[in-house]
Amino acid sequence: MVKVALLGASGGIGQPLSLLLKLSPYVSKLALYDIVDPQGISVDLSHINTTAECTSYSKDDLVDALRGSRVVVIPAGVPRKPGMTRDDLFKINAGIMRNLCECIVKTCPNATVLIISNPVNSLVPVAIETFKKNGIDGSNRIMGITTLDLVRAETFLGDYMNNSRVTTVGSNQFDKRRMHKVISVIGGHSGHTIVPIMLLKPMVYMMKPGQYDSLINRIQFGGDEVVKAKQGKGSATYSMAYSGYKFIEYILKSIQRESLEGLGYIPAYINFTKLTNGNDLSKKLNSNELEYFSIPINLTNGRIESIDTTILDKISEKEKEMVGKAIPELITNAKKGQRFIRNEA
Ligand code: NAI
Repeated sequence: MVKVALLGASGGIGQPLSLLLKLSPYVSKLALYDIVDPQGISVDLSHINTTAECTSYSKDDLVDALRGSRVVVIPAGVPRKPGMTRDDLFKINAGIMRNLCECIVKTCPNATVLIISNPVNSLVPVAIETFKKNGIDGSNRIMGITTLDLVRAETFLGDYMNNSRVTTVGSNQFDKRRMHKVISVIGGHSGHTIVPIMLLKPMVYMMKPGQYDSLINRIQFGGDEVVKAKQGKGSATYSMAYSGYKFIEYILKSIQRESLEGLGYIPAYINFTKLTNGNDLSKKLNSNELEYFSIPINLTNGRIESIDTTILDKISEKEKEMVGKAIPELITNAKKGQRFIRNEA
């Protein structure tokens, strides 16, 4: 029986994600928390005839929402408006993340904590440092969800393959959902730190000239398309709820000891330094300073058992160049989050 707490449940992501979690056979209790009371959402969802028992909490009820939670999912915070970068959200969202994590570390310190709020590159360090400040190393169970980048990569690659010259020879049946065998994404969750990795290199040769570069650009800046289309009313919510749920499902399956084989690479943005193969990753990335990176992980009981660095053995010169460009920005982003907590001590 697994209790999941969703912090930020009344928001654009929180509402559709609540629905997906209510439909999940892996969830027995679903605690919805938001400073804007999610009571209506909870009562509405509770009429659906699935197992998960929904309860709602607001403002001072955070401890009650968290008590007994095995998984905590956090989309709480403000989203982007046109012209804003994810980093522009730091000031507001870092404080929210710190306050929520202060309560998580005291109430359910063993829970797996999954962070959606942006900037993910800096807020995962805020969460890990908050745990550390309270004497707990959470690096095997605090993760940033970067699955939307992977989902976008699979979708956009499917589009490109169907529209490429391959179509003209009659093979236009690229199933976007099967693209996880073809493409993965590592690095971070913002602009150039998002590094798509082509797992089947011949795919690149099948593209028209310039198509590869424009595909990479679309994956890295796909979020901007949604921000622009929503005209000031926020960023990705439905695609994020879907992607977030896909990742949460991996965690829940692993808690139920179900096999994750055949699901392809599962990346998450984590502090890899103390994890099995962490040194291996530092060596492959040729950086002693980098502590946080989105990389495929192996899970046991909902926690990171080890990281899988084999994806880096398969990268092209161009992909290596993109990783090289991402690293300094990732270091700066992580330091910003660490400093936010360390300077307060
Ligand atoms: P939203 O503004 O619609 O919802 C955020 C919710 O958080 C609101 O209901 C608000 O009341 C709540 N909230 C604020 N402070 C809180 C606190 N202290 N405790 C509990 N709840 C609190 O925003 P939306 O669209 O749901 O986005 C949420 C976050 O997710 C943003 O930071 C956004 O940038 C990020 N995001 C992350 C993505 C990813 O790939 N990881 C993709 C898309 C968005």
